[in-house]
Amino acid sequence: MVSIGVSGFGGYVPERVVTNAELERVFDTSDEWIVQRTGIRERRIAAPDQSTLDLAAAASLQALDHAGVTADQLDEIIVATDTPEVYTPDTAAFLQDRLGAGHIAAYDLGGSGCAGFVQALDVARARATVEPRRILVVGVELISRLLSWKDRGTDILFGDGAGAVVVEPEGARAELLAFVAGTDGSRTDILTLGVGGTRRPFTAEVAATGDHQRLVMDGHEVFKSAVRRMSAAVLEVLEATGCSVDDVALLIPHQANERIITAVGNRLKIDPNRVYVNVDRYGNTGSASVPLALAEAVHGGVIGAGDLVVLVAFGAGFHWSAAALRF
Ligand code: ACO
Repeated sequence: MVSIGVSGFGGYVPERVVTNAELERVFDTSDEWIVQRTGIRERRIAAPDQSTLDLAAAASLQALDHAGVTADQLDEIIVATDTPEVYTPDTAAFLQDRLGAGHIAAYDLGGSGCAGFVQALDVARARATVEPRRILVVGVELISRLLSWKDRGTDILFGDGAGAVVVEPEGARAELLAFVAGTDGSRTDILTLGVGGTRRPFTAEVAATGDHQRLVMDGHEVFKSAVRRMSAAVLEVLEATGCSVDDVALLIPHQANERIITAVGNRLKIDPNRVYVNVDRYGNTGSASVPLALAEAVHGGVIGAGDLVVLVAFGAGFHWSAAALRF
C-alpha cells in the first residue's frame, strides 16, 4: 500500500494575548483558580476584523510554504471547525478562494468539537490512499466570538487559533501510520451548543435568553470521559502500529485542561517530558489545538527524524480520535 505522509506543518494564533488577570476584570474569578483548575495562564483572542477564514488562511500558508508547494498544486481541502466563517456554505469554500487553490473539492468536517482535526486527517489519509492526491487539512477555531463572556465556568477555557498540514503520498516529513476514532452518541448532552439547528432555531426569543452564546458543559463528565477515552485511544493506535508507550517520542494531546493531560499521562505511565503542553499559553483552541501544537513542536525542533509521535483528541459528540506518525 502506498505510504501517505505529511509534507508541511503550519500554525497561527492571533496577536492579542488575554491573561487571566484581564479575565479577573470580566468575571468573578482569579488567576489562581484558573491556573489550579486548568493550567491556563493566557489565551489568544482574534482581532475584531479577523474571522475564521483569516486564521485558517494564515496557518495554511505556513503549511504550504513548509511543504514547498503552492495552493494551485492542491487537490483537495478539508477544514475541521465548529466555529465556521458563516452558517453555510462551509469555511473550506471560502478558504479555497482566498488561497487561489483552483476549483478543487473543498469541504468542512464540523460538529466534532476538538476531535475534528484528527478525524479530518484520517479522512485525508484514506482519500489519498484511494487515489493519490495532495490535501490541505486545517483545524481552526474562533471560539471567542461565539461566547457571551458572561459564563465564568466555560468562557475562561477557550482561545482562538488555527493549524494546518499538507497530506500527500510519500509526504516527506512524517508518515501517517495508523488512526483510531470513536463516538458515543448517547453523550451528546455533556457538551453542546444547542441553539441554531432545527431542534431549537435561532430566534429573537432565543437571543433574549442568551442561549445561543452558552456552551452547555458538564465539566466533570467531560473530564472523566476525556481521560478514559484518550488513554484508551492512545493504546489502541499504538497497538495498530506494533509499538508501545515506551516507543513514543512525543504525545500531543488535545489541549483542553492541563489536569486532563496529566491524568492521561499518568494512566499511560509516560514520562511527562514526552507529553506536549501549550494549554498554558493558548487555552483550549478546539479543533485547532492538536495541529497548532504539532506545528509548534515541528518548527520548534521538539520533534526529530525517526520520532514516533501520537496525536489524541476528544470533543463534543462525544468523539475521540488518535493518530500515530513516524517522522
Ligand atoms: N473562577 C472561579 N470559580 C469558578 C469558576 C471560575 N472561572 N468556574 C467555576 N467556578 C466555581 C464553581 O462555581 C464551583 O463553585 P462551588 O463549589 O461554590 O459550587 C467551584 O468553582 C468548583 O467548580 P467545579 O466545576 O467543581 O470545578 P472543577 O474542578 O471541575 O473545574 C473545569 C471545572 C475546569 C471546567 C473542569 O471540570 C474541566 O476542565 N472539565 C473539562 C472541561 C473540558 O475539557 N471541556 C471541553 C471543552 S470543549 C472540548 O475540548 C471538546
